[in-house]
Amino acid sequence: MNISNRDSFSSKFGVIAAAAGSAVGLGNIWRFPYLLGQNGGAAFLITYLVIAFLVGIPIMMSEMIIGRKAQRNVIGAFKHLTPGKPWFLIGVMGVGAAFLIMSFYSIVGGWTLEYIYSSAVGAFTNRTPAEIQAQYQTYTSGFWRPLFWMVLFMLLNVLIVLGGVKDGIEKYSKILMPLLFVLLVFLMIRSLTLPGAMAGVDFLFRPDFTKINSKVILDALGQVFFSMSIGMGVMATYGSYVSKKEKLGTTSVWVSMTDTTVAVLASLVIFPAVFAFGLQPDSGPGLVFVTLPNIFGHMSGGIVFGVIFFSLLAIAALTSTISLLEVVVAYFTEELKMKRNIATWLAAGTMTLLSILCIKFSALFSGFEFLTANIMLPLGGLFIVLFVVWQLKKIATRKELEESGHQMKLFPVFWLIIKYLAPVAIAFVFLNGLGFFGQ
Ligand code: TRP
Repeated sequence: MNISNRDSFSSKFGVIAAAAGSAVGLGNIWRFPYLLGQNGGAAFLITYLVIAFLVGIPIMMSEMIIGRKAQRNVIGAFKHLTPGKPWFLIGVMGVGAAFLIMSFYSIVGGWTLEYIYSSAVGAFTNRTPAEIQAQYQTYTSGFWRPLFWMVLFMLLNVLIVLGGVKDGIEKYSKILMPLLFVLLVFLMIRSLTLPGAMAGVDFLFRPDFTKINSKVILDALGQVFFSMSIGMGVMATYGSYVSKKEKLGTTSVWVSMTDTTVAVLASLVIFPAVFAFGLQPDSGPGLVFVTLPNIFGHMSGGIVFGVIFFSLLAIAALTSTISLLEVVVAYFTEELKMKRNIATWLAAGTMTLLSILCIKFSALFSGFEFLTANIMLPLGGLFIVLFVVWQLKKIATRKELEESGHQMKLFPVFWLIIKYLAPVAIAFVFLNGLGFFGQ
């Protein structure tokens, strides 16, 4: 394919909606609140904010710089920028990670669809906590039902990605992201006006700094990677569709602010309700799929709020998974010269097969999650910043930013971060992921 007629994003808002769509996902609404719940509330929030702005944004920028400079998919980009060298293996790992993340993430995407349906038919209404727990257990350990919903979820991805970058990903992100915001604010207002809700707000915003320890910091670091979709080429791929006129620093700041805002808003939906109903904030991964249905089952209008909440979760998941599918589709079309529709069906079909394996063998599900989040993403992130520092080097990196009319006052700070702070921080996430600092 001639790179001059590559598909691309058509507007600034489109870029931000698509990239923020990738970042905002189950990580924000499901993972962030439960980590926060387990790690002392506000103390975790503050640690997270500091790391996201200090380390997350520069890494996201580095990834976008690579993609935009090369105007290629993630494997092609490294091959183009450093021909004949092994750096393209970062891209290979990224494409591999896209398959693996997709295979477990789309199962959870399927759960969100199942939970929209269950909420709508009143499956949670007036159930005891034990019954709701049992529903979750039965459903998630089943085979055909999760399979059905996963395939449906995968088809939604195919539908969007088949449309291309501008008329698929960008078009839907521009609709779905504002919708997600509106639903989130609506639910937040409902949650905050429950009697006793303020205890949840207190938990979220009153920091107890004695709670900040190495586990909190490491959990926050890992969450920054996962939540911002960095370390495996999504941002490089999306960056390659961004016009040379856009300021990548500004874009990254917007994307990460949106990502963080959604995580905080989601917490403002969840914790006030959890406290208002006298439940525990630290129930872990079951927080969204078990604790919340308990609340919806016992509040007035719970069916409506349940349907809205799980729709929100489905939207968030979908705008993330299309970015994973796009990483692979971009590679298939540009490097293997496939037609876009063949590439999309082939990629999604393979992901579906992997996903079926994950449903059948739950050890694979958690294995893939561990392998990607704890090993492949931090390793990818590490090599990405090393690539920018050692291979692209200061002058070319500067130029890529300067061309868009970027204000360069902060460039030395950016450079210091990606040269020293980011690699060290990432190394810590990686070692922690491997269990070096205890579990
Ligand atoms: N950021 C998404 C979330 O928070 C997950 C995700 C999508 C992701 N694409 C990614 C994570 C790429 C890492 C890399 O749910």
